[in-house]
Amino acid sequence: MLVLGLESTCDETACAVVRDGYEILSNTVTSQIDLHAEYGGVVPELACRRHIDVVIPVIKEALSQALVTLDDIDLISVANGPGLIGALLIGINAAKTLSLSLQKPFIGVNHIEAHLYSALMLQNKPHDFPCLGIVLSGGHTSFFHMQNICQHTVIGQTIDDAVGEAFDKVAKLLDLPYPGGPQIEALAREGNPKRFPFRAGKVQGSPLNFSFSGLKTAVLYALKKQESLDYQLKCDIAASFQHAAFSDIINKSILAAQQLNCKTLLFGGGVTNNRCLRESFKISAPHLNLIWPGEGLSLDNAAMIAGLGYHQYLQQGCGDSLTLQAFTR
Ligand code: KG4
Ligand code: ZN
Repeated sequence: MLVLGLESTCDETACAVVRDGYEILSNTVTSQIDLHAEYGGVVPELACRRHIDVVIPVIKEALSQALVTLDDIDLISVANGPGLIGALLIGINAAKTLSLSLQKPFIGVNHIEAHLYSALMLQNKPHDFPCLGIVLSGGHTSFFHMQNICQHTVIGQTIDDAVGEAFDKVAKLLDLPYPGGPQIEALAREGNPKRFPFRAGKVQGSPLNFSFSGLKTAVLYALKKQESLDYQLKCDIAASFQHAAFSDIINKSILAAQQLNCKTLLFGGGVTNNRCLRESFKISAPHLNLIWPGEGLSLDNAAMIAGLGYHQYLQQGCGDSLTLQAFTR
C-alpha cells in the first residue's frame, strides 16, 4: 500500500511517500527557519501563509522523488493535531481535497504518536510491545506506556515548558539564533557541564512529570550575575543547562522503565537529534534497549505521518470522513 503523508502542524511543510508503513520512497521537508529566525520563535500567522505557498510544490517534489504519480497513491495520511490551528488546517484541507478529487481514502493521525512511530520505521518490522515511548520535542515532553503502535497511555509529561522549548528559550538568552537546540548542543561540546549547578524541577507527587521553566529562569539569573557574556561563559552555561535537562530526562526514563517493567525505550522528537543525549543514555542505561529515530526522522517530517497512517488505516479498517477536524492540544 502506497501512502502519501502530509505534515503541517508547526513550521515545517512536509510530504512523503511510504510503502507498507516502513519503506520510505521520499521524505521532503521545507523548513521555515529563515522566516521565523528574526523573531526568535514561530509566528503562527506567518507559518500558515508559508504553508499555503509551499504545500503544492512540496507534494509534487515528494511524488517526483518517489517516482510515482497521484494515481499510484492508495491512502492519504495527514497530521490533524496537535499543533497551530491555522497551520493544521492547510495540511488537512490539502489532504481532504486530494481525497475528494482522487476518490481515495484519507486518515488523520496524531503528530505525537507519529514521532514515536518514527523510531520503528528503520526496524522494518513490527516491534515487541509493551515498551516505554519518550517524546522530546519543541512542543512536548512525554512518557507513554505503549501497548502497540496505536495503543498507549500517557504516564508522565511536562507541566510547563517542553524540553525543546527550554533549549530555544535558553538559546535566546544567550543571543543564539532560532532554533536553539542544535546551537546549544554545539556550544555545550566546548563547555564545562559542572560550572553551574542547574537542576530541572521536581513535580510533587508526580515523579514522572517534568518541569523545565525553573531551569530556564535559573539560567537567566546566572547570566544576570555575570559582568559580560564571553564565548567560554556561553559554552559553560550551555553545557550546564544541557547536562541538567538531560540528567533529569534520563533519571526519570530509567525510573519509568523500572516501574513499567519495560526493557525497550522508543524515542521521538527533534531533541532526540542531540548526540550528547544519545551517548549519555547509552552510558546511563546499558541494560535497556534504546531505539532512536533514523536520519531525517527526529525532526518534524511526513514519513512518520504516512507510516503511522498505514497502521491506523489497517486497524480502523477504513479512512476518516471529510468532517474530520483539527485539534490544537
Ligand atoms: O519535533 P520537532 O521538530 O518539532 C516539534 O514537534 O516540536 O522539534 C523541534 C525542537 C526545537 O525546540 C529544537 O530546538 C529542538 O527540537 N532540537 C534540539 C536539537 N535539534 C532540534 N534540541 C536539542 N539538541 C538538538 N540537536
Ligand atoms: Zn514534532
